[in-house]
Formats: sequence, C-alpha cells, structure tokens
Amino acid sequence: MARLSSKDVLRADQFSVDEIALIMETARGYAAALDRGDVLDRMRGKILSTLFYEPSTRTRLSFEAAMERLGGQVVSVAEAKSSSAAKGESLHDTIKTVEGYADVIVLRHPQIGAAAEAAQATHRPVLNAGDGAGQHPTQSLLDLYTILEEQERVDGLNVTLVGDLKHGRTVHSLADLLANYGVRFRFVAPDALRMPEEIVGRLRGRGITVEESSDLAAGIPGADVLYMTRIQRERFEDPAEYDRLKDAFILTRSMLEPAKDSITVMHPLPRVNEIATDVDVLPGAAYFRQAANGVPVRMALLSLVTGE
Ligand code: NCD
Repeated sequence: MARLSSKDVLRADQFSVDEIALIMETARGYAAALDRGDVLDRMRGKILSTLFYEPSTRTRLSFEAAMERLGGQVVSVAEAKSSSAAKGESLHDTIKTVEGYADVIVLRHPQIGAAAEAAQATHRPVLNAGDGAGQHPTQSLLDLYTILEEQERVDGLNVTLVGDLKHGRTVHSLADLLANYGVRFRFVAPDALRMPEEIVGRLRGRGITVEESSDLAAGIPGADVLYMTRIQRERFEDPAEYDRLKDAFILTRSMLEPAKDSITVMHPLPRVNEIATDVDVLPGAAYFRQAANGVPVRMALLSLVTGE
C-alpha cells in the first residue's frame, strides 16, 4: 500500500503511480468535505511553517488555507527580507530553527535544489513550493487533479505545454508527473526557451512522444489540455531578452476556433499577457478552478506527510 508519512515532497518524479493515486483520492475526499461545509480537525495541534523567499499568492495562501481547513495552525515568513536570511543566515540554520517551531515545512526559494537541501537539515517533512527554475511538485499534483476533474482521465491525452519551458518549474514538474501516464506531449516555446534537453530525453526514454515547435497555432488542434505559462522575467539576466520574448505567445479566443470542443485551457497563474481575458468565459477555461483545487490537494499532502 502506498504511504507518504514523514516523506518530503521535493520533485514530481519521486512519486509512484500508487502514491499519486492515493493523493488524488485523498484530495477528492477533502474536496467533498469542503463542499459539504464539514469542519475538520485532522491537523489540530499541529503547526505548519511556510517560508516564502520568492513572491507567491496562490501557493502560500492555498497551503495556509489547507492547514486551517484541517484545523491546524500556520506560522509564516512571506519574504526573505523580513527574515534572518537578510542577515546572512544559512538555509540550514533557518530550517534547524524552524523545526523547533513547526511540524511540517513548506519552502519556496530562488535556488534550484534548495528544498532538497532543507530536507537534509531536518527530520520534519519539507514540501517544495518551488525551487527557482527547478521543480514545483505540489503545483503539478493540483494540475493533474484538475486534468482528472476536467477531462475525467489522463491516459491517452494530448497535452500541449506553452511558454517559458526553459525556466518554468511548473512545466518541468508537470512533464515528469504526466509521464507516468500514456500522454502525448507537444512543447511550444521560443527557441531560446525550449524545454531542457535533460527533461525531453528523460520523457522519450520512458517511451513518451514529444513534439517540439515554436508555433502556438500548431499546438492547438487535437490538444485535450493546453497549458499556458508566463515568461519567467525574474530568471532573465538580460532585460532586453525578456522584452523580446515576453509576448511570444498570447492565446486569444479566435485562436481556439480549431480546438477540440472539449479542450481544457490551464495556466498555473499569475497570468501576465499569455491568455486574453475573452478566453475566461469559455467552458474549458479552467485556470481559476485549477487555482481553487490547490486547497484540497494541499490538504491531502499535508495530512499524508504528517500521517502515522
Ligand atoms: C508559478 C510558480 O511560482 O512557479 N506560480 C504558482 O505557483 N502558481 C508559475 C509562475 O510564477 O509563473
């Protein structure tokens, strides 16, 4: 039987299919409980610490809402400059300190590998809420949950990932997570922002079909899921290069005319310019439902990693 107790959540490729199924099933149970208005106490007496050293709205608030919905409590640092990191404290020492205050730790950090480093420093479960341009596994789990809700399956879907595939941690994790199922990928990115070769190679090595292009229109017909992402401005060394690429792909309603009627349009948010607001009213525009799914999925993760 799959178990996640006392486990860290660091990368999307760490999970077995059974573990993913357990997370999805637990999340569905919590979603139903929230719909009924149940008051839950699974995490009563427990404290979550959220340490966010990069900006966040959805990830931090949905983790905190998840903990509160489970009857637990939250202590948080919302920016590095208000914590002792600004005084030069190492991540190791911060985590050793926080382990004395909290039962479970959620970390967002600008450096690739930071969550893994934090996990080494403590016996408390550490959940990676984004490590620079690395991974964002809890986002991918809520993305998968959304796909299952919207499409009622994942096996055999055509999934098009669009935007900054080089720096986007959400798409790195999502590609790895969906590779557990028989999906076919189309990756649409400007040449300079293609999916890292290492990830494409890993997917192909697992027998997954990957087509790459730099043409958004070509990625739409036949797609079951169209996953748009933001060009990650904060990862560019040269602001002129960002300006050149920032509006590379803007999805408008008319571009969706050749799409399947059943297409699901997703975006991890925040949206800058990637999806025109006239897309929002389409039945397949799932991005705000996707954001809301962060709560039951993170409830599932918090309760499973702290379970006996
Ligand atoms: C994403 C992130 O932080 O990687 N946001 C999120 O967690 N929903 C996507 C982004 O910032 O573009």
